[in-house]
Amino acid sequence: MTAAGAGDSPVDGPTVAVVGGGQLARMMQQAAIGLGVPLRLLAEGADVSAAQVVRDPLVGDYRNLDLLREVGRGCAVMTFDHEHVPTAHLHALEAEGLACRPGPGALVHAQDKLVMRERLTALDLPCPRWRSVSDAAGLDAFAASVGGYPVVVKTPRGGYDGKGVWVVDDGSGLPDAGTPLLAEERVDFARELAVLVARSPSGQSAVYPVVESVQRRGVCREVTAPAPGLAPELAVAAQQVALGIAGALDVTGVLAVELFETRDGRVLVNELAMRPHNTGHWSIDGAVTSQFENHLRAVLDLPLGDTRARAPWTVMVNILGGESDAAVGRLFEGYPHVLARDPGVRVHLYGKAVRPGRKVGHTTAFGADLDRVRERARHAAGWFDGTVDDSEGES
Ligand SMILES: Nc1ncnc2c1ncn2[C@@H]1O[C@H](COP(=O)(O)OP(=O)(O)OP(=O)(O)O)[C@@H](O)[C@H]1O
Ligand SMILES: [Mg+2]
Repeated sequence: MTAAGAGDSPVDGPTVAVVGGGQLARMMQQAAIGLGVPLRLLAEGADVSAAQVVRDPLVGDYRNLDLLREVGRGCAVMTFDHEHVPTAHLHALEAEGLACRPGPGALVHAQDKLVMRERLTALDLPCPRWRSVSDAAGLDAFAASVGGYPVVVKTPRGGYDGKGVWVVDDGSGLPDAGTPLLAEERVDFARELAVLVARSPSGQSAVYPVVESVQRRGVCREVTAPAPGLAPELAVAAQQVALGIAGALDVTGVLAVELFETRDGRVLVNELAMRPHNTGHWSIDGAVTSQFENHLRAVLDLPLGDTRARAPWTVMVNILGGESDAAVGRLFEGYPHVLARDPGVRVHLYGKAVRPGRKVGHTTAFGADLDRVRERARHAAGWFDGTVDDSEGES
């Protein structure tokens, strides 16, 4: 028998090409192990999070079409750890016969927030009021139409973790991007929610429980599944919005829909991601099937797994680097304390160097008492990132 390429995998079955070597690809590998599916990774560096755990990673630039061809060679399908691969390259790969999931026609809505707003508005899905603006006069006119400043301005492309998002108080606050920007009303939301859907090419969809996410300085800090106290009708409405988007945009793989819950009981779409998402990390330990496994099942067009939670409450807390100087370099030092204090808490570290504000891991706790579950997940994360010290919170 001759080897089939794609890293000459000894496994009889499909190989999945993954572009991007961050923690999402790393956690995809964890799910791939269980499924017995080899991954072929294109990583941005030899030591990045996923390159530490995927066999024979290719190292190079995801904007290089030849490298994308190389990583995809012999693979059944290509999928992504991030959304930044140029869609022109994905069209070229598809024309050459490589399935890209999600495909470029869907992915562009996660790459470009103006394209996303136009499409969702055309689909009559609930969004904050918005406008494309190019200059101060345009921003002033938009602000006047939504009851005045402050308004939110976003770069359509390339933003993440709140980078590329500004709250501006007047037209002179408009960043000079040289291209149109997305202006949005500043939503006075009650809280932020998220819904994940896994959708396969044959059209099967599986939706996860609606979660509450708490952001600090534009970075996801904590996720609670399900969203506490969410009205059942609103939960269903949010899930229907997400399922509707997945279907209308023909998304394959996991789609994350970030939402605002307004104080008058509506949901508005903030933005979309087409890959496993931070608001779904709780599902690794807290759901019957994790978002990473369902992402792989979906891109391989396999039947999807049960999305239900294993416990009444699951809380996931991100471990962010550099919350205090004391935390730098002591991640592993946290294990004896954290693991001894709470044998039920789950810890995931991403193999990333600690830098201020950087996501370097997360903790998850689950159980029947929400306050207790939240305290356990927070304490563990806080001990790792230095916001809780040894003496605090012992029980
Ligand atoms: N129109 C709005 N009104 C009020 N707050 C907003 C608005 N848009 C964004 N925000 C706040 O800013 C955060 C970041 O915005 P957004 O999700 O668009 O940016 P991002 O940097 O692409 O985020 P991500 O890290 O999820 O990719 C939101 O989670 C929310 O807290
Ligand atoms: Mg966001």
